[in-house]
Amino acid sequence: MHAVLDTSLSSPAVSAQLRAFLDDRAPATPCLVLDLDAVRANYRALRAALPEAAVFYAVKANPAPEVVRALVAEGSSFDVASTGEIDLCLAQGAAAASLSYGNPIKKAADIGYAHARGVRRFTFDSDGDLANLAEHAPGARVWCRFLVDAPESGTPFGRKFGCAPEMAVRLLARARDLGLDADGACFHVGSQHVDPAAWVAGITQAARIARELAERGVPTRSLNLGGGFPTGYRCPAPPLADHAAAIRAAVAEHFGTGVELLIEPGRAVVATAGVIRSEVVLVSRKDDADEHRWVYLDIGRYSGLAETENEYIAYRLRTAHPATPDGPVIIAGPTCDGDDVLYQHTPYRLPLALRAGDHVDILDAGAYTASYSSVSFNGFPPLPTLFVG
Ligand SMILES: Cc1ncc(COP(=O)(O)O)c(C=O)c1O
Repeated sequence: MHAVLDTSLSSPAVSAQLRAFLDDRAPATPCLVLDLDAVRANYRALRAALPEAAVFYAVKANPAPEVVRALVAEGSSFDVASTGEIDLCLAQGAAAASLSYGNPIKKAADIGYAHARGVRRFTFDSDGDLANLAEHAPGARVWCRFLVDAPESGTPFGRKFGCAPEMAVRLLARARDLGLDADGACFHVGSQHVDPAAWVAGITQAARIARELAERGVPTRSLNLGGGFPTGYRCPAPPLADHAAAIRAAVAEHFGTGVELLIEPGRAVVATAGVIRSEVVLVSRKDDADEHRWVYLDIGRYSGLAETENEYIAYRLRTAHPATPDGPVIIAGPTCDGDDVLYQHTPYRLPLALRAGDHVDILDAGAYTASYSSVSFNGFPPLPTLFVG
């Protein structure tokens, strides 16, 4: 087996300690290896880029207890989506006051559970959830999520979350009437959003909501800008500084000073900290005349690469054959499922020398991978995570 070398064109692929771990320890594949020092560095980079915003790490991006523990030590707060994530964060030493229940879809019983555990911040986008919050989390701080037009998201939310801005005004006024603390509006531009203008549009709209509420005698005090900060996968993403500058300018223009800012980054904290090491199971062709080879890996859609659905996220790949001729490939997972094809439209090329048993490293894979992997689809075990740093 060759040592695995970086064949990617853009930024340095993995940290030296992660590379050393892969080379020296040769872990069984597939596995995700996560560099906790890189997680800390990403968190600090976000803090430095936007020091005026409190960071609520979106636990869903990578809920490994080790990640949560490292971020508790950094002073992060947490965006949680379920009672399971609440328990996870509390078990890793997070204070209940640092948790925000950001999922607008929740059972009344789960709101009560969260409140009993000390959670006091919630997001909602509907009358039903608001009524449940008033009953089961009396006095809590609440944000109303409104719909934003965010066309440049790599993994768009569609219309699942949020309500029309005019409705957000009505709901926040009702929240106040129900005895809740109407904290303000929130939005999420969709994950992997490469255009800072989306935040500008959201901030502009949020300011209109705040103004209309103020006119109704319902003062709000904060703005939750959600997540969505992108990672450079095969296509480079604008630097964090561009997003921060756009956000800062828009907040200054539309809110002035005095508004409390929050962000809920997930991907930007963990993606670049992780590499998935996989192995080639088979290289084949469907037709002797077809130059495309099918490369089947020992990881697929159901063992962690859920974000390859619709080929939304196109990861950078690394093999052991950097300087040899390559050719076009279709890349698929190992299961007996027709949907378990990772890339058939995105033009990937891999070395012609690639053989069964060779490693393929999947870069920037620390977000939305391990926790997406199925328990045992086709008998394949969930993707394990190993840690360095
Ligand atoms: C409410 C909420 N906040 C934050 C995030 C994190 O988004 P990202 O990983 O794109 O930063 C998500 C992701 O789905 C979310 O649903």
